[in-house]
Amino acid sequence: MCGIVGAIAQRPVAAILMAGLKRLEYRGYDSAGLAVIDAASGQLDRLRSLGKVANLQAALADHPLRGYLGIAHTRWATHGAPSPENAHPHQCRGRCAIVHNGIIENHDMLRASQLSAGHRFTSQTDTEVVVHALHDALAAGHNLADAVRTTCQQLVGAYALGVIDTAHPDRLVAARNGSPLVIGVGFEEHFIASDVFALLPVTNRFIFLDDGDVAELTCTTCRIWDTTGQEVARPIRTSVVAADAAERGHYRHFMLKEIFEQPQAVRDTLEGRITSTQVLPEAFGPQAVTLFPQIQAVTIVACGTSYHAGLVARHWIEGLLGLPCRVEVASEYRYRAQIVPTAALFVTISQSGETADTLAALRLAKQSGYLATLTICNVAESSLVRESDLALLTRAGPEIGVASTKAFTTQLVALLLLTLALGHERRLDSAFMTQAVTLLRNAPQKLEKVLALDEQIATLAAQFVEKQHALFLGRGAQYPIALEGALKLKEISYIHAEAYPAGELKHGPLALIDENMPVIAVAPNNALLEKLKSNLEEVRARGGQLVVFTDDHAAMTADAHVQLLRLPPIDDLLAPLFFTIPLQLLAYHVAVLKGTDVDQPRNLAKSVTVE
Ligand code: G6P
Repeated sequence: MCGIVGAIAQRPVAAILMAGLKRLEYRGYDSAGLAVIDAASGQLDRLRSLGKVANLQAALADHPLRGYLGIAHTRWATHGAPSPENAHPHQCRGRCAIVHNGIIENHDMLRASQLSAGHRFTSQTDTEVVVHALHDALAAGHNLADAVRTTCQQLVGAYALGVIDTAHPDRLVAARNGSPLVIGVGFEEHFIASDVFALLPVTNRFIFLDDGDVAELTCTTCRIWDTTGQEVARPIRTSVVAADAAERGHYRHFMLKEIFEQPQAVRDTLEGRITSTQVLPEAFGPQAVTLFPQIQAVTIVACGTSYHAGLVARHWIEGLLGLPCRVEVASEYRYRAQIVPTAALFVTISQSGETADTLAALRLAKQSGYLATLTICNVAESSLVRESDLALLTRAGPEIGVASTKAFTTQLVALLLLTLALGHERRLDSAFMTQAVTLLRNAPQKLEKVLALDEQIATLAAQFVEKQHALFLGRGAQYPIALEGALKLKEISYIHAEAYPAGELKHGPLALIDENMPVIAVAPNNALLEKLKSNLEEVRARGGQLVVFTDDHAAMTADAHVQLLRLPPIDDLLAPLFFTIPLQLLAYHVAVLKGTDVDQPRNLAKSVTVE
């Protein structure tokens, strides 16, 4: 999704802006651009290009931009096709320029009145109305910060903005409402960006803006006004994320690196949160100790992969605790009438902590009478963490590959910790609790063993390369894992993949089965295995090709129609965690063989900050 970087410094900023854009590439984008105020002439100088940041870098090599104040952007098209004309920064009459992340919902209305006022539009974006409105406010005599505030008052929708003006060459102005934006505090220099990650090479000190804030940055000062126009002080926080935490190392892709980081990510997520006999409820925040015993129902809301983690958690929360648990995608939840159960906990799950729909659902839930809100999130400084009553960080480290891997498995671990913490002293006996934390503690080691199947899975992948479709099957808590496996395959290999609860096969998808339709089944050795085997027989009887991920103890045999890939023996409680790994690896190897852009698949964004 769109990424913003901006800088005001006593050194040339183009290289800083470009490095920031490179670090935002993982968010997903289709064009890029930057503008600086030229140090010699005081004029706006702008470059924009379609495609990768490398294209912009090449353009910059031919036409260097020299200045100490600038803004830059990666655009993920919403209004108007990807093209150099639609790429940001947008500018008005050579005077001022802006970069924008979000959607301006009233752009049609603003465009009509600006056209009649004589403005000329050069793009199809919703953003361009902002720069014309800004120009009018500046022309009316406002200083830059006031002009931005006046402009924002006309906007309906979500935005993070970075703004420069040739008449104010000593300041960079930023505004935020519903889309993420942070300020980086350097030594006699300031920066803005969509996330801390973009700025880690230049600073580890950040100010997080609230919705409605407008900030004016000079090299040495930072002033912030809130939504009422009141000047406010926002704290400076020091980030502990290392600048090199997102290097690819010797791995061919970030996704592969992140798959192999899962044992360590799980270890880190458990660190300090369990003893040998229990989960520490205070790991979720000091209020959790008194709140958790009161919880009688759980609602989980999330998007994409994080939603799949929620679906697994429902099996744990209902199955182990006997508490009703609803799970819903955020974009649906927020637009339907809600019945809030008594004494219910509202849980969001998110890698980024900035997903617009999940954040909006949280804000809605906060007004709806939930007992408390909790987020399972991977980004400490994110909006979801800041706005939830309770939080458990997944500590997966930066996840760069668009297809989520280590964030998902650490979410599963965090959700099992939540289940056990909710069961503390009430619903789960101490023998079960001890057994569960032991299983969790041993999980990283077992994950290593599952990862050792990589070569076998790479071999298996070859048979998928020419396929157009694939069907994934699972039952119980493995159905969400089948959903996640199908999502991984479609995201990065562009093969159409669907997941079904295996029992639903004969209610439709069986009609699709023939020798061209690979069927991938997740089949751990559990109470549902015999039922699942019957479902797989239905596939085999119709000439389907089965690839079954099972474990050493499951009584299954391979034949001409059935290929088996056996995981080490796995306890059912953690089976969703372990069976995720081969599905991630399968999708990865198929994508590599197909030659797709594994880390930045077409049309997708890592952090979806618009509705
Ligand atoms: C995008 C990403 C997915 C992610 C989803 C939810 O679609 O590409 O990988 O699962 O957003 O994101 P979140 O950050 O809230 O987990």
